[in-house]
Order: sequence, then C-alpha cells, then structure tokens
Amino acid sequence: MEQNLLLITDIIMNVNKTITEKILELKEKRDAVILAHNYQLGEIHDIADFVGDSLDLSQKAAQTDAKVIVFCGVHFMAETASLLCPDKIVLIPDEHAGCPMADMVTVEELRKKKSESPDASVVCYINTTAAVKAECDICCTSSNALKVVSSIPEGKPIIFVPDRYLGAYAAHQSAREKTLWPGYCPTHQRITADDILRLKKQYPEAQVIVHPECRSDVTALADKALGTGGMMRYAQGSDHRDFIIGTEIGIIYRLRKENPSKRFIPASEQAICPNMKLITLEKVLWSLEEMVYQVSVPEVLHDKARTAVERMLAIG
Ligand code: 13P
Ligand code: SF4
Repeated sequence: MEQNLLLITDIIMNVNKTITEKILELKEKRDAVILAHNYQLGEIHDIADFVGDSLDLSQKAAQTDAKVIVFCGVHFMAETASLLCPDKIVLIPDEHAGCPMADMVTVEELRKKKSESPDASVVCYINTTAAVKAECDICCTSSNALKVVSSIPEGKPIIFVPDRYLGAYAAHQSAREKTLWPGYCPTHQRITADDILRLKKQYPEAQVIVHPECRSDVTALADKALGTGGMMRYAQGSDHRDFIIGTEIGIIYRLRKENPSKRFIPASEQAICPNMKLITLEKVLWSLEEMVYQVSVPEVLHDKARTAVERMLAIG
C-alpha cells in the first residue's frame, strides 16, 4: 500500500515537471550533452549545452567527455559527430531531419567526375554524407572554405561539391579555378536580390550580412558573406546597430538574445529550413527516453571519411 502511494506520488511529480526539467534530468542520468545548430528553434537553443555553427559543433563533439551526444541539427552533422567520436552514442531526435543539399551529390556521380579529372583534389562541404566524404581529400565548412581551398597547392585542379554558391564564393575569394557541382540549398535559394535591395532602401544604415550559400547576386550585394558562427561574432563586435541577415531565420533568435540593443532584420521570412525545424523539445525528450535515433557510420567508410574531416580540423 505504502509502496503504491510512493509510486503514484512519483508519477504525479513527474507529470508536473516541465518538459525542460525532464530533459535536464534525463540528460544527467544518461551522461549526455546536447549540441544545437544555430538554425534550431529558440526552445532548443535554450536547453542546449552548446549552440554553434557546423565547425563549432564538430569541434565540440570531438572534445566532449559525455557518453551520449544528442545532436539537434540535420543528419550529416550527427554523422560527422559520430565519425569524430565512434565510441560515443550519437542521437538525432528526428530521423527525417536531412539536408537536401547533401543529397545532391552521390558517390557514383562523384566517382564519374573524378575519373574525368584524376589529378584533381576533391573538396567537400561538410553538408555531404559520410559516403561522399570518404571519396574526398578534404572537407570544409562555410567558415573555413577559403582557408581549405587556399591550402591546396597552386595549379592543382579542384573539384568542389556540392554547393555551387559556396564553391563560387571560395573560388572568387581565393582566385582559384574550380569545377563546381550544381548543388544548392533550397532554403538559401529563397533569399533574392530584390529582398536585399528593398530592405537596403528601408534600412539604409543597416549592414547586410549573408551566408555564402546564398545566390551569387545576393552575396554581391552584401557587406559581408559569413557562416553562421562568423555572423554571431561579427554582430557582437560591430558598432552598427542594424543588420539585415541573409540566412535561415533560426539564427535571428540567438542574435537578438545575445545582442539585445541591436536590431536584426531577416532578409526573407521565407528562409526557413524545414529539416532543421523537425527537432522539437518533445522529440529531444523522446530521444533521451528511448535512446533514439542512433546515428553511426559504417566501418568501411570510417577511416577515409574521418581523414577528410580531420584534415579540415587541422586547418581550423
Ligand atoms: P554553418 O556552418 O554556417 O552553420 O552552415 C550550416 C548550414 O547548413 C547552412 O545552411
Ligand atoms: Fe541543408 Fe540548407 Fe537546411 Fe542548411 S539550411 S541544413 S544547407 S537545407
């Protein structure tokens, strides 16, 4: 009887706990760390141990002592974490959170392209599957694409996959010739030059910062093209008050939270990545309760894919 009462009290107390409290409690119990990309919902930013860009998150994954990594982002990001920490359990709270751009290059297509240019160095954006990374020499993110491309000896041909816009931007900045892949991000594609021109008229004092995944005519109108981590640092360090932000709108939450005296205007309200938005608090809780969905990289791809990522991390 007494035991039943204890059990009922336990159940009632658990029901009364907020979802955040339950997540934090389970996180402790599982020895888990929650990593979240800048494009996640604000509610995810608020419970995460660390919020950052693709490079920051892969570095955090490589450094953590936790046994479990709950990756609030898209699949290739969780896969990269698993590559860097094969002895840890990596969970993604929604197994359908993929990246359409990453699926725009397949192993077969890339092998064909490599056979046409056997001397080329192959640079892949981190937004690729582990199977594609295993076919590449070195990986990059939006924050280090220029450094990575510049690290390749002059005169060596370069194949860059899959983002044609980031590839074109890095080629332009580094004055290097590259074979570009016709991939793109459907979310950044929604930001148009007309959006930027209209907002520049409306906010003439504002700095325009866009992600290098944007179309080239959009990037050409910007004051800065930066990855999401670079945007955070730039907004913090700048004396400007107003910023037009050309990227997925999830980052606006973090920009406003960390810079309350500044104004951030999304370049387009349409720039929402539906995959990033699949992750919710309820799914994070479910993920920790059921230890789902586990992400790992097949043994056979492991060494090659990891080498491409580690070469990038060595460059920084
Ligand atoms: P960042 O590395 O700049 O965070 O970009 C990741 C991404 O998917 C952009 O769409
Ligand atoms: Fe992929 Fe674009 Fe979403 Fe980034 S914003 S995860 S590139 S679809």
